Amino acid sequence: MASAVFLGYAPRFQNGTELFLLLRKKVTSFLLLSLGLSTIFLLLIWGTSSDSFIFTAKQALSHSAPPPGYPKIADLTSQITYDEAVLPSTNLIADNSTATVSSQFPNKNSSSIIDPCDMYTGKWVRETREPIYSNLTCPFIPENKKCQKHGKSPGYLYWRWKPDGCDLPWFEPDRFLNIVRGKTFAFVGDSLARNHFDSLVCLLSQAEVPINGDPNPFRKFLKVHFPSSNFTVMMIWTEFYVLGMPRSNALSTSFDIHLDKINTAWTSQLPGLDYLVISGGHWFYRKNYLYESDKLIGCIFCRGENLTEYSVPYVIRRVVRKALESIQSCQNCDKLITFLRSHTTSHFEKGSWSNGGYCNRTEPLNEREIDFDGQEWEIRRIQMEEIERIKGFDGVGDANRMKRYKWLDVTKAMMMRADGHPGKYYNKELFRFGNDCLHWCLPGPVDMWNEMLMLNLINTSSLD
Ligand SMILES: *[C@@H]1O[C@H](CO)[C@@H](O)[C@H](O)[C@H]1NC(C)=O
Ligand SMILES: *[C@@H]1O[C@H](CO)[C@@H](O)[C@H](O)[C@H]1NC(C)=O
Ligand SMILES: *[C@@H]1O[C@H](CO)[C@@H](O)[C@H](O)[C@H]1NC(C)=O
Ligand SMILES: *[C@@H]1O[C@H](CO)[C@@H](O)[C@H](O)[C@H]1NC(C)=O
Ligand SMILES: *[C@@H]1O[C@H](CO)[C@@H](O)[C@H](O)[C@H]1NC(C)=O
Ligand SMILES: *[C@@H]1O[C@H](CO)[C@@H](O)[C@H](O)[C@H]1NC(C)=O
Ligand SMILES: *[C@@H]1O[C@H](CO)[C@@H](O)[C@H](O)[C@H]1NC(C)=O
Repeated sequence: MASAVFLGYAPRFQNGTELFLLLRKKVTSFLLLSLGLSTIFLLLIWGTSSDSFIFTAKQALSHSAPPPGYPKIADLTSQITYDEAVLPSTNLIADNSTATVSSQFPNKNSSSIIDPCDMYTGKWVRETREPIYSNLTCPFIPENKKCQKHGKSPGYLYWRWKPDGCDLPWFEPDRFLNIVRGKTFAFVGDSLARNHFDSLVCLLSQAEVPINGDPNPFRKFLKVHFPSSNFTVMMIWTEFYVLGMPRSNALSTSFDIHLDKINTAWTSQLPGLDYLVISGGHWFYRKNYLYESDKLIGCIFCRGENLTEYSVPYVIRRVVRKALESIQSCQNCDKLITFLRSHTTSHFEKGSWSNGGYCNRTEPLNEREIDFDGQEWEIRRIQMEEIERIKGFDGVGDANRMKRYKWLDVTKAMMMRADGHPGKYYNKELFRFGNDCLHWCLPGPVDMWNEMLMLNLINTSSLD
């Protein structure tokens, strides 16, 4: 117990190599003594993006039993005591996320953002058709998403999302490229935004080999061009939307997050864009410090530090709002249409990145196995409320705003896809981390996000 290995899912290294690098931390004995913490606690503090771990411990806090059939990730809870779990809980944390903030929505009727065909409610049904691309036909699949090549059995590919009220059309690369002719598209967010971006590039590359396609998953800024339709799609990396600077403390992978300062690295790219897909959230699941007007106001996962502790959903509401307001106030962004892609869950069982958590399911979960009381579902609700708010339900909107902000709700569909992650099936020579139960195989269920996007674009472009 003198040293431990931490898997920094997002440790801070330079030159874009931070992702997936193995971060070794010596756990000095003073820490162990002064904090008196278990290994599990340390893992929590230095946070991997282990949502289900969080969820697990949250269950321990709330004493709530998982619903019948829920993956038995709860086995870990026996090792976590109340004192050890540094987790959001209503009585521990100053959380304005529900009380004060949502009262700012006079009209809480969320049916207003559901399209006539609600493509977001449905189920996964078996499908025999092959995905439209494979590791052989798309040269841009990052090695850490090439699940087939690394031995994952292909059953997870033969499922299709069936919305209750309509059919989701298959992705048609030529049709998509036609709709977006001459346009520029950007994905803004973290490695899951990159996952979405990679899926789109692979799908479209079946129609035309693009310029500057790049399978290197460590590249954070990419600009891929499809000449025949003069379509450009960009990946613009941001962990927090707002400014987030790694702490200098060498022992930590914490960040100083300035809730009131937008990160202009991405907003400066907005002028001239036609479409934007923003997403994010997983980087908040670590010990981070929060600032307002350059003053430290509190932190996340930091109990024992004599600071106000905020919950992840609260902080996500703050930064999503800041991001949407920054988009709304962007100059020369008149034609920009923004999609907010909703939060997705990981499916670690019996642990997380760092301690042997795995995801070896071979079929989607069914709806009864999904936890709608978990934080992911709450984050989705918050994102939805923020999209509604920016559309103008705060009373200052206009008709144009209704068109400019859209909702890409993949949360529930992806909560079911415990079988769609790389898990242990990736190139272990190139990447060293535990099982990946957060990102999605390519091809895989993430391709469905682009089918939803296409259907939305068909409608959006017909409005122009
Ligand atoms: C919560 O909101 C109230 C009212 O806006 C404010 O007075 C209070 O300081 C907020 N608390 C935190 C922790 O942000
Ligand atoms: C919400 O929207 C539905 C459908 O448009 C409508 O029937 C209902 O009256 C609305 N509720 C409120 C509180 O506005
Ligand atoms: C697109 O718009 C049409 C007409 O308004 C509507 O019937 C259809 O359900 C919409 N589809 C989606 C996916 O928004
Ligand atoms: C590609 O995927 C197939 C399964 O679809 C697998 O058998 C093969 O080994 C993979 N090849 C490469 C080069 O990735
Ligand atoms: C390609 O699209 C860009 C806008 O994204 C436009 O400025 C440019 O003129 C277009 N080029 C051609 C050859 O149509
Ligand atoms: C906690 O912070 C408050 C206000 O900054 C300070 O007065 C108090 O002494 C601190 N307590 C500890 C144990 O550091
Ligand atoms: C998944 O892995 C666990 C632990 O290694 C094993 O007990 C279980 O049988 C596996 N399930 C499947 C479906 O392979």
